[in-house]
Amino acid sequence: TVMTSKEIKIAYLEYESIDQLDPADKELAEAAIKATEGSYAPYSKFNVGAAVRLDNGLIIKGSNQENAAYPSGTCAERTAMFYAAATYPDNAITDIAVVASQNGQICENPATPCGACRQVMAQYQTKGGRPMSILLVGSGRIWKFSKVDDILPLIFDSI
Ligand code: THU
Repeated sequence: TVMTSKEIKIAYLEYESIDQLDPADKELAEAAIKATEGSYAPYSKFNVGAAVRLDNGLIIKGSNQENAAYPSGTCAERTAMFYAAATYPDNAITDIAVVASQNGQICENPATPCGACRQVMAQYQTKGGRPMSILLVGSGRIWKFSKVDDILPLIFDSI
């Protein structure tokens, strides 16, 4: 048998603060921070905000919404993407920003989306026909990925 060892590399940018971002990314990061105010997280007390930008420039916000029946809750990213896609079905989502806060303070490390949210991002990226950038915002550092493929290697996209 012949076996080959392979490696996947992921490229991303790291910034120290939102003031280093370009104006469009800074605006989206600030919308995600604002969105944490709508979070309903009585169980985890982890308040997540997301903001998506559509190809028409519109910014839509979402936040995590928890429920006593735990699996019924939704993440901030999916709240924002599903609302955006349901309301503007003909507009691609071109960018998404995510931030988490605890006790009213933005978490130092960037909030990294769960697997289910990455899969939803992947499908809206395909539906939109253009790359969706991902901005993960923390008070200590900010990570920017230029497309969903970078946070979901070997993406499932076959149906
Ligand atoms: N959560 C998000 O909304 N987005 C993420 O990227 C990570 C996790 C939510 C789900 C749950 O309401 C809480 O954060 C704790 O996991």
